[in-house]
Amino acid sequence: MKRLVGKCALITGAARGIGLAFAEAYIKEGARVAIADIDIERARRSVSDLGPAAIAVEMDVTQQVSIDRAISQVVDTFGQIDILINNAAIFTAGPIVDIDRADYQRVFEINFSGTLFTLQAVARHMIDQGIKGSIINMASQAGRRGESLVAVYCATKAAVISLTQSAGLNLIQHGINVNAISPGVVDGEHWDGVDAFFAKHEGKVLGQKKQEVGDAVPYGRMGQAQDLTGMAIFLASDEAEYIVAQTYNVDGGQWTS
Ligand SMILES: NC(=O)c1ccc[n+]([C@@H]2O[C@H](COP(=O)([O-])OP(=O)(O)OC[C@H]3O[C@@H](n4cnc5c(N)ncnc54)[C@H](O)[C@@H]3O)[C@@H](O)[C@H]2O)c1
Repeated sequence: MKRLVGKCALITGAARGIGLAFAEAYIKEGARVAIADIDIERARRSVSDLGPAAIAVEMDVTQQVSIDRAISQVVDTFGQIDILINNAAIFTAGPIVDIDRADYQRVFEINFSGTLFTLQAVARHMIDQGIKGSIINMASQAGRRGESLVAVYCATKAAVISLTQSAGLNLIQHGINVNAISPGVVDGEHWDGVDAFFAKHEGKVLGQKKQEVGDAVPYGRMGQAQDLTGMAIFLASDEAEYIVAQTYNVDGGQWTS
């Protein structure tokens, strides 16, 4: 039985990677999905493979006007938003002494402020329309502890976990469930960039770090985006109605909490 029939989802940063896998999985479960991304050309190409249940929406999560416009576009097309996945994020890394203020601000703007203000705008829509919706934030194992070379990205994801708790506790009175997924290491273009960074800072050859982190996962390999889709479907489904303000690790055993 399909679990998301009749539901409409907005997924940020869904032109590629994990967000795109979520979109594919949601459509298979009967949902309609808005693929919202700053890279609108890539979003359009992705939508062309997904069929009529998907639309592409241009959205920069750092700009309030862009958030509001994208939400209006989705509501105009679908009528409402039942599910939001705050998935857009970027990675940065470097030794503490090299952290650049502009880079720090950009990463916090996308990973944390973008999550907060997209969540806020969609929550307002859900409350206005009496929608008992689901909001899923993408955290990370990086938000569970610090890492020597990853201070800023780790801090953004710790902030996302904290926001998930506060927003979950605040919005459940409206019947809106806010939860988060915390992946470990997931193969894809994102990790290609991470691998290149570590090659530079740890003197490794390209691909070496990726191999090492995959070998270190207790399950025995790196994650694939499809490893996360079951949790994303479950948290958006009616079966998860009593789950409030939680962050779930889906990481092959990388972190236990
Ligand atoms: N890949 C991993 O190993 C991993 C691990 C833990 C957590 N995560 C988290 O999962 C989520 C998805 O990761 P991914 O690997 O698919 O990343 P990705 O880099 O492949 O995709 C991110 C998407 O976000 C979009 N984006 C960037 N800036 C944006 C903005 N300002 N507004 C709107 N969209 C913007 C990009 O265009 C891209 O399509 C992220 O939140 C990431 O932090 C990923």
